Amino acid sequence: MKKIALITSGGDAPGMNACVRAVVKTCIGKGITPVGYFDGYHGMMNNRFKEMTSDDVVNIIQRGGTILGTARSKEFRTVEGRQKAIQSLKQNDIDGFICIGGDGSFTGASILADEMNIPVIGIPGTIDNDIYGTDRTIGFDTAMNTVVDAIDKIKDTAGSHHRIFLVEVMGRDAGFIALETAIASGAASVLIPEERSNIELLAKDLKSQGKRRSNLIVIVAEGDDAGGAKEIYEKLTPLMEGYTMRYSILGHIQRGGRPSAFDRILATRMGVFAVDSLINGESKKVIGANGDNLHLTSISEAVKTESVANVEHLKIIKALKTVI
Ligand code: F6P
Repeated sequence: MKKIALITSGGDAPGMNACVRAVVKTCIGKGITPVGYFDGYHGMMNNRFKEMTSDDVVNIIQRGGTILGTARSKEFRTVEGRQKAIQSLKQNDIDGFICIGGDGSFTGASILADEMNIPVIGIPGTIDNDIYGTDRTIGFDTAMNTVVDAIDKIKDTAGSHHRIFLVEVMGRDAGFIALETAIASGAASVLIPEERSNIELLAKDLKSQGKRRSNLIVIVAEGDDAGGAKEIYEKLTPLMEGYTMRYSILGHIQRGGRPSAFDRILATRMGVFAVDSLINGESKKVIGANGDNLHLTSISEAVKTESVANVEHLKIIKALKTVI
C-alpha cells in the first residue's frame, strides 16, 4: 500500500482532527503517503486534495471541527458522482481509503469499494453515537460534556425562577445524548425516540415531582416522536397550569469545541488501527471499540443494524425521582 486517501464526512464531531492526525502520522511512519480530500466526498468528486505531511497535523489534536472540512453530498449517491470520485482516486494512484463519518458515509465508501475495487475502512465519527458495532463514536463524549455543562447553567436560572425547562439536544434518530446527559445532569425526565412519549403522563410526572420545585429539567431528543422541545412545550403548556416553563434548544454548540481526553484517545487509537487494518488486507469494515478492545464489523452489518440507546437506563432516571 503506497497511498491512502482520507476524508471526514457528514456532521463534524470533536476528535475528528485527532483521528486525522493519527491516520496521517501512522501512514507517514509506515512509508505510505496520506492524501486528505477536502469536504468529504464533495472534494473527492472535484479532485480537491492535499498530500499530507506531519506539518499539516501539528497542533490539531486539541481542536474541534475538522481541518479537512466535511459535507453531506447528495451527488455522491449517484453513479455519475461516484465516477468523478473514482477518476480522482485513480488519477492519484490511491490504493486504500479511510472514511471518518457516520452510516451514510460508510454506505458510500462500501459502494465505492465495489465499483473501484479499492479497500475501505470506516471510522465512526459522529456526536450521535448511533453506529452499530461500537460502544462509543468519536465526538459523543465531548458532546455529552458540552450538554451537561449547558444544563448546569440552565439549572441556575431554572432554580432561581422556579421554572421547568425543556432542553432539546441533538440526536436525529437515536436518544444516546439525551439519555446519558439526563443521568449526568440529574434531569427530572427525558424523552427519546426509542420510547413512545406520552405528554399527559409527562405532565402528571412533573407535577408529582413538585410544584415550584427548583431545577426541573426535561431533556428532549430532537428526534423524539412527540416533537422537539418547542412542540412539547406547546403541548405541555395547557396541562401545566400554575407552572412556568421555558424551552431551550442547544443546537450546534453540541458539535463544536475542544475534544475531551476520552475522544482524543479513542480517535487516535482508531486512526492507527484503521491504517493497520488496511495494511493487513481488511476492507469494507467499520472500526468499533468495546471496552478496551478495537475490532472490525462489516459495513453492511453496521449500516443495516439500528443502533439504539439503552432504554434500561430510563429506570435509573425513574429510580432517582423525588416524588412529593
Ligand atoms: O451529526 C449528527 C447531527 O448533529 C444530528 O444530531 C443532527 O440531527 C444533524 O447532525 C444536524 O445536521 P446539520 O448540521 O447538517 O443540520
